Order: sequence, then C-alpha cells, then structure tokens
Amino acid sequence: MRRSCLPKCRVARIMGWIQIILGGLVILVSILSLTRFYYAGFFLHNEDICHHFYNVRDVYDGFDAKSLSDRVAKVIDRLETLQAKLESKVQEMEKSKITLLDKKFLEDQIVRPLHSANVALRQIRFSKIEEGRNSTVEEDTLINFFITEEIRKYITPKENRVGKINLYGVDKVYNTIGHACVLHKTELEKYMDYDIGSYCDDDWNLAQKLMLNGCDPLPRRRCLTRASKEYQKPHPINESLWRLPDKRNVRWGNYQCRNFECLSSKNPKRGYSKCTGCFEMDKEKVKWFSNSSLLRVDFLISDVLAIKQGEVRIGLDYGIGTGTFAARMREQNVTIVSTALNLGAPFSETIALRGLVPLYVTLNQRLPFFDNTMDLVHTTGFMDGWIDLLLLDFILYDWDRILRPGGLLWIDRFFCNKKDLDDYMYMFLQLRYKKHKWVISPKSNDEVYVSALLEKPPRAI
Ligand SMILES: *[C@@H]1O[C@H](CO)[C@@H](O)[C@H](O)[C@H]1NC(C)=O
Ligand SMILES: *[C@@H]1O[C@H](CO)[C@@H](O)[C@H](O)[C@H]1NC(C)=O
Ligand SMILES: *[C@@H]1O[C@H](CO)[C@@H](O)[C@H](O)[C@H]1NC(C)=O
Ligand SMILES: *[C@@H]1O[C@H](CO)[C@@H](O)[C@H](O)[C@H]1NC(C)=O
Repeated sequence: MRRSCLPKCRVARIMGWIQIILGGLVILVSILSLTRFYYAGFFLHNEDICHHFYNVRDVYDGFDAKSLSDRVAKVIDRLETLQAKLESKVQEMEKSKITLLDKKFLEDQIVRPLHSANVALRQIRFSKIEEGRNSTVEEDTLINFFITEEIRKYITPKENRVGKINLYGVDKVYNTIGHACVLHKTELEKYMDYDIGSYCDDDWNLAQKLMLNGCDPLPRRRCLTRASKEYQKPHPINESLWRLPDKRNVRWGNYQCRNFECLSSKNPKRGYSKCTGCFEMDKEKVKWFSNSSLLRVDFLISDVLAIKQGEVRIGLDYGIGTGTFAARMREQNVTIVSTALNLGAPFSETIALRGLVPLYVTLNQRLPFFDNTMDLVHTTGFMDGWIDLLLLDFILYDWDRILRPGGLLWIDRFFCNKKDLDDYMYMFLQLRYKKHKWVISPKSNDEVYVSALLEKPPRAI
C-alpha cells in the first residue's frame, strides 16, 4: 500500500513545493514593486517626483491619492499575512514530515487569496473620477452623502473616454440607485463593504431587504457571488418542469429550511406564508389545468388560450410562486417570464431550476419591457386588499403600457374586503378593457375574490 503510493506522493510533494516557491516569488515581486512606490515619494504628493516617476500625461490633477494609499496598504497587509501563513505551514510540514501536501489548504488559503490580492492590485487605476466632471449640484449632494468609496465610485457618472459619444448617443453613463437608498445608508454601506475581486458575503437577504425598502435599483458590486459548494447540473428540460430541483443547487444559509421537503405546506416552520403548497408538485400540477374547488374563480389555461387561438405567445406572470403558471404555458408553447422574490423561500432558484425564467423585480419599479409588446399579463397571489389605490393605479397603467393592443390581462384570485370592492372594481375597469370573463365570489364572511380576463383595446391614436 505504502510502496504503491510512493511515486505519486513524491510528485505531489514536488508540485507543492513548486507552488509555494512560485507563491513566494509573486509576493516578493508585489512587495518590491510597492516599496518602489513608497520610495518614489509618491504618497507625499511631491510633484517633481511624480513627474519623474510617470510620463507627464499619466498624471491627473484630481488624483484620488488617499483611496489609493488606503487600498495599497490593505493589499500589503494581506500579502504579509499570506506570507506568514505560508512560512508557518512550511515549518509545520518540516516538523511533522507530512509527505502529501494538503492541496485544499494551498488552494483555499494561499493560491486563491493571493490571486485576489493580485487582482486587487491591478484594480488600482489612476481614476479620472474627480477630474473635469460636469455635474449638477444635486449629483454632488448625492455622491457626497455616502462615505463608502465604492458607493461614491458607483454613482459618479462615468464620462466616455476622450470625449466620445457612445451608442446611446450620450457622453457619460449614469449608474443609478433607488432614491430611498439614502434612508438606508448604514445597510447600504454594509452591503457595499467588500474587497474588490474577492468573494462577496452570502448576503442576498440584506440586498433584498434594501430593495424591498426602496433602495432599488441596488448598486452593482465588484465581488464574486457565492454559489452552492456542491452545485449539480440541473435536471434535463424534459424532466425539470415538474420535478423539485436538487437541494444541493440552492444556498440555504438565509432560509429557515434546509431542503425542499421542509418547504411543504404541512410544516408550520417553513418560513414563508404566500403561495403555501407551491413546492408540492402534485398540488401544483392541477392548477389552471383541471377544475378546482373554486370553479368559477379559477379559469383554465385552455379556456383562456381558446379566446385568442394561437395569438398568445409571450407574457408576464406577476405574482409569487414556483413558476407553475409558466410551466403550464410552456407546454402550450407560450413563453412566460415569472416575477420572483425570495420571500422566505428560494423562489427564484426554483423557477430557474425548473427551466423557466425568473425576473427578480419588486413592485417599486417600472417594468423592464417596452410598450405594446406582451400578449398576456397574468397576476395572482401577490396583490390583494392591502394595496394602496394610488400604487395599484401606477401598476395597472404600467401593465397597460406593456400589453399589446388585443393583449390579455388576467387577474387571478384578487381578493379584498367586501367594503373595498367598489374601489378596486373601479380601478380594474377604468381602462375600458373588453370583458371576456368577470367573476366575483365570496372568500369568507367579509372577503371576496375577483377574477377577470380583460382585453386591451386597440388605440389608434
Ligand atoms: C457643462 O454642461 C453645460 C450644459 O450641459 C455646458 O454648456 C458646458 O459647456 C459644460 N461644461 C464643460 C466643462 O463641459
Ligand atoms: C429525458 O431525455 C433524456 C435524454 O434526452 C432521456 O434519457 C430521459 O429518459 C428523458 N426523461 C424522460 C422522463 O422522458
Ligand atoms: C370543468 O367543469 C365544467 C363545468 O362544470 C365542465 O364543462 C368542464 O368539462 C370541466 N373541465 C374539466 C377539465 O374537467
Ligand atoms: C408546441 O410546439 C411543438 C413543436 O413545434 C408541437 O409539436 C406541439 O404540438 C406544440 N404544442 C401545442 C400545445 O401547441
């Protein structure tokens, strides 16, 4: 046994030493080049030395020397820690005479961090951010509101190089954030606190919380998002539509559950309340497909599609769920994009793993579709009697905007208090759509369901 291992071990050992030596060299070179920066008096802002060190045209007036020096100091710190780790590991190996190198240790603790440190070094650019910017007072106010350098960099308009006009026909690009971000400064700064090029925290729930609170759109980040350690390839498309995904394809860290079985409606601690039971495929399979207990309120997909034979090809499902509506429609050769937020369960991941398209949007925003494009907007399980009438008005007009003339608006099981019914009916009918179906049915003593199938009229104006 031992004998047969020997040549292999020797190779691994030699490889390990080569890796260590290479790593050490990289660190040495990095530190040497940084020392040269300091030696040149760069951070003392000595103009002469700067001119000497760079070509004149490389020197910018508004150069952000402070953030550079902070950044560089961090990188040096990190390289030094790495070197110490490397050395102690080498000593340890010599003592215990371990023949086979712990490859995983080298990978995780040394090679990767070293790589990210190097990437970070490369990210130090001679930024033109502060120079010659033609911005309004309001922009500066917003930028200066934030202290975190990465947020400031993000929202600073990026002027095109050498005064060119880009394909949008504009001379600079604005990265936008939701205006309510200013109300959640601390959380946003936490969200944007990362090392450029390294792994982000597993903090999608912080991001979602910011979005739901109106910090939407969120800034982009320059860190690598984490994925499940044991990610498997998804089920093939002929199976994925009606099969729960592999639990290993989801990062469960921020949910109450740790697998799909736990999300069952029978479990009181499943962690979400809307669309109970939508992780049970046998329950999902009958939806919109066979007569339900709420016969009049639940329209069948076959009946709806029959109204516009062959004309419904693309659409939006505005709701919360696991994509079952889109799955059924896909079987009818209709492409549906499903909105999905991860409200207590991995809705987005589930939809995507079923082979359907999740659209991660909140109610806050104008929909990212052009006017008069969609054949169908279906909405269920999302809005009900809690929704502010003014908000609903803006949403309805947005749906109207994206629906094509002759497109269908399918309001599915909207419910509200009986006394509010008139208000909501007025809202739904104000756009003067053609009524294909319109059903009101009691839900409980003082609540009612409204389901409707409405058609957007042509507007030749
Ligand atoms: C700034 O913008 C204004 C109006 O957009 C323009 O007239 C002015 O020339 C610009 N200044 C610079 C320095 O680009
Ligand atoms: C799905 O397709 C694969 C190959 O394309 C096949 O091996 C498998 O049996 C199919 N599964 C089902 C449920 O039809
Ligand atoms: C659903 O019920 C209606 C009315 O009772 C009936 O006409 C229809 O055939 C049923 N459809 C299915 C798929 O069972
Ligand atoms: C969907 O398209 C496929 C391939 O074009 C076709 O075979 C199938 O009959 C269509 N299904 C429906 C429900 O129209």
